[in-house]
Amino acid sequence: MLNIEGAVAVITGGSGGIGMALAQTWINRGGRAVIADINKEALARAKEVLGDQAETFVCNVTTEEDNAALAAFAIEKMGAINLVAPFAGIIKDGMMVSPDRETGKVTRKMALGDFQLVIDINLTGVFLTMRECAEQMINNNCKGLICLVSSTGSLGTAGQINYSSTKAAMSVMPKVVTAEFFRRNLADKIRCVAIAPGYVGTDMVKNMNQKALDRIIGEVPIGRLVEPEEVATLACDIYQNEALAGETFFIHGGLRLGSRG
Ligand SMILES: NC(=O)c1ccc[n+]([C@@H]2O[C@H](COP(=O)([O-])OP(=O)(O)OC[C@H]3O[C@@H](n4cnc5c(N)ncnc54)[C@H](O)[C@@H]3O)[C@@H](O)[C@H]2O)c1
Repeated sequence: MLNIEGAVAVITGGSGGIGMALAQTWINRGGRAVIADINKEALARAKEVLGDQAETFVCNVTTEEDNAALAAFAIEKMGAINLVAPFAGIIKDGMMVSPDRETGKVTRKMALGDFQLVIDINLTGVFLTMRECAEQMINNNCKGLICLVSSTGSLGTAGQINYSSTKAAMSVMPKVVTAEFFRRNLADKIRCVAIAPGYVGTDMVKNMNQKALDRIIGEVPIGRLVEPEEVATLACDIYQNEALAGETFFIHGGLRLGSRG
């Protein structure tokens, strides 16, 4: 079992919902955290709550420079990277093509920009954070876990062709990374997994219109949204349990998985 006491987490999207909950849970268990986010004000508010065991770093995960600087900052300030949690993510929902009900002709399409932005942040951004942090972990002889965040959307949700595609990628990356680290005799040192939440009570979900939210909750067997702290606890438990590697772990309150029409 790995000990969180004194261990260092790098968390992107760290001032919001699940990322912030992870930082809090990690620190409660004796860890230290670098929380990175594009939202400066939210980072300052998070720092107030998290206190001395947290450092903040303003970062746009879509750029190589920011990710390289983030990983270097974690090593310089904290001396190690043990948990990498690239949790920065967005949604930009919409149907790929929407035909008009009367004419049957397509009147709206998902804009390329709405597809690309989600790919840039949720996929390319994760790749860059993971790559830069892994480099620093290897070069500085750090032991730990890369914990990606997939989603039940990885199985294919209507209205989320952009988001679902990125979350499906998050489910395969742990297998690729684990296999690569195995080839390089690193797999016992740096593990990689993904967690795949269902509907979690963060701004991303709570900002939906009430009707959509009611419909969603009606589909969850436990009758409520998953709490961000419950997802954070799962990530910390996986960190500690060194037998867990290369897999995606769902946490969704009993949701029936599969594509929703
Ligand atoms: N909320 C859910 O139901 C749910 C379910 C499954 C997976 N997830 C995933 O969990 C992760 C966190 O989601 P959340 O619900 O906490 O969202 P959130 O909106 O509460 O937090 C996301 C954070 O990412 C930051 N961010 C956005 N773009 C960024 C960028 N370019 N660079 C750096 N930071 C950026 C935001 O400022 C925000 O603080 C996301 O990857 C999301 O897809 C969420």
